[in-house]
Amino acid sequence: MDYSLSGKRIIVGVTGGIAAYKAPLLVRLLVKAGAEVTCAVTDHALQFVTELTLETVSGHRVYKELFDRSNPHSTEHISLKDWGDAMIVAPATANIIGKMASGIADDALSTLLLAFRKPLFVAPAMNTEMLENYAVRRNIDYLRANGVEIIESASGELACGTTGNGRMEEPERIVEIVCQHLTASQEGAGKQVLITAGPTYEKIDAVRFIGNYSSGKMGFALAEELASRGWRVHLVAGPTHLKALHPGIERIDVESAREMYDAATKLFPSCQAAILSAAVADFRPDHQADHKIKKQSDQDDMTLHLVQNPDILAMLGQMKRDGQLLVGFALETDNELDNAHKKLTKKNLDFIVLNSLQDKGAGFGHDTNKVTIIDRNGGVDAGTLKSKKAVASDIADKMEALVRSTENN
Ligand code: CTP
Repeated sequence: MDYSLSGKRIIVGVTGGIAAYKAPLLVRLLVKAGAEVTCAVTDHALQFVTELTLETVSGHRVYKELFDRSNPHSTEHISLKDWGDAMIVAPATANIIGKMASGIADDALSTLLLAFRKPLFVAPAMNTEMLENYAVRRNIDYLRANGVEIIESASGELACGTTGNGRMEEPERIVEIVCQHLTASQEGAGKQVLITAGPTYEKIDAVRFIGNYSSGKMGFALAEELASRGWRVHLVAGPTHLKALHPGIERIDVESAREMYDAATKLFPSCQAAILSAAVADFRPDHQADHKIKKQSDQDDMTLHLVQNPDILAMLGQMKRDGQLLVGFALETDNELDNAHKKLTKKNLDFIVLNSLQDKGAGFGHDTNKVTIIDRNGGVDAGTLKSKKAVASDIADKMEALVRSTENN
């Protein structure tokens, strides 16, 4: 694929693993794509690749010492962090990953990383056992949870003579991922979108509730995707442990369907679009006890009387003005397409995302999903099993295309 990084300034951090021999190629490819590149290295990296090579391919002096009297600035890590639009650490050893996760700054590169606040990519490379070590896994997960883009290592022959996971992703692929990320569409700039996500809990008494298995992963992936495209996201989230990372996401935590209804109906009028992915409980107990309900000694059964919750999606369908876009989800087990289509018409949606419950790896709790997108003109787009992030990107593409077409009419 042809990408352009024209006008972008990228810092390539190189650490001491055998894959450092690929760093000059990575720099070369970034420069070829139009980027200006500076390298920051650890002492160990220079055991594998020379400073002269990196300086020659990048055309810039290599940053390697925190207290180098010949540095143009005494605080080069600060001026360099302002200079760079993005940073790629490739290869990233277990050591640098551990330092990043712990906030340790004991050399030039780790100090720069601690100060760097812009898109940051990390391409781990190490022996399989090291990669699978609990501390390394924890550190990688921690970096990811804090917004670092992890470029997962691939499987293949390793320097230690074994075969397994731990090989640094190929420089061509790293450049592709960085390009996709840095040149993502900013179509949403200035526009607002409402997203509902996760389950709702319907209180029975002081310690019990009726809930469901929704993890919220699909809705959070949508929020991250749209925020990265410049949308201001209002994420109304039911109870979930997930974190919203992008600064463009405003998160409103709710518990019950009625709280979600209040938040969503208040926010919708100022939004250009809404995507309701939450698994909202259709019913709630008609009475919620403030104390813990005690069982009686002679009690064999118990009856809970449930009343219907408001349908948030249907309400937004009624509130929808010209130019606003409404997207719903459907979870069906029988007559899937037919039922989803009926829901689309009944709730006045622009398109509906039909979740498959038939496929392994799709639906509640998984990191992958398989959906079919049905629009109001009868268009049916059946997807394959993909990561929830990739599904979110498909939904965002469809939504932005519809927003464009309503704006052009
Ligand atoms: N939804 C909602 N408020 C509700 C119930 C559902 O906003 N009280 C939304 C969901 O977020 C989803 C869509 O409606 O976008 C479809 O939910 P689903 O449970 O599949 O359908 P229902 O309309 O509740 O119908 P049924 O349970 O009969 O299939």
